[in-house]
Amino acid sequence: MRTVLSNKETQQLQHIAIIMDGNGRWAAKRGMPRSFGHKKGAERVKEVVQAAGELGVKYLTLYAFSTENWQRSPDEVNDLMDLLRQYLKSELSELQKNGVRIVFIGEREMLPADIRSSMRRLEDDTKNNAKMTVCIALSYGSRQEILQAVRKIATLAKRGDIKPEEIDDKMFSDMLYTQEIPDPDLVIRTSGEQRLSNYLLWQVAYAEFYFSEVLWPDFDRAELEKIIENFNKRERRYGKA
Ligand code: FPP
Repeated sequence: MRTVLSNKETQQLQHIAIIMDGNGRWAAKRGMPRSFGHKKGAERVKEVVQAAGELGVKYLTLYAFSTENWQRSPDEVNDLMDLLRQYLKSELSELQKNGVRIVFIGEREMLPADIRSSMRRLEDDTKNNAKMTVCIALSYGSRQEILQAVRKIATLAKRGDIKPEEIDDKMFSDMLYTQEIPDPDLVIRTSGEQRLSNYLLWQVAYAEFYFSEVLWPDFDRAELEKIIENFNKRERRYGKA
């Protein structure tokens, strides 16, 4: 199997975060309802998880549903929740076979109870898989994530458990939903939009960005390989000369 990451490059590109955008436009171009685009999009998730694993990516974070997405029509929210339900129920054997650990980030309390318990089960059943971690951002908003971290730290400081001068990068990162996940090296947004949309604002401080014109339901292994090759040519200096 072809791998586009050499050992050296694998160390550099550990974590890819994707904003899967363009499902609605993909469906509209075919005269179909938005739900059709989301269904195709969910199929792409499976293919891209597998391809990323084969290419040696250790962490893949996918923006499946943002806190802002709750404002879409009730029908569309229901369609997305149904797709997630199906995904959570159907994927376990595939994920086990491929050594994939699943974790979720986001405001779980806002999700339906049955989805929350499927999420817990999937996290638990895959927790010992070590080949790759897929992190699904569900009901996720980065500002909300940062605010809950600030509240936790303020509470600790008020109780006298920590001193304000002890608050550093590491402590703050540990209070985020992504606490045990390294920061993304590369953020990909599909569909030609060039926005971050409240995604991993703290975590992407030194990430590289790639905006792909491809709509998410058309995104495939070839496009992922092309993007990784582009990333490998970049020089990351982290602010140093
Ligand atoms: C953006 O397209 C996509 C979403 C809001 C949802 C992403 C969800 C999936 C790919 C399917 C379910 C996920 C999993 C993990 C099974 P859009 O609707 O904003 O498209 P548009 O910008 O063209 O309208």
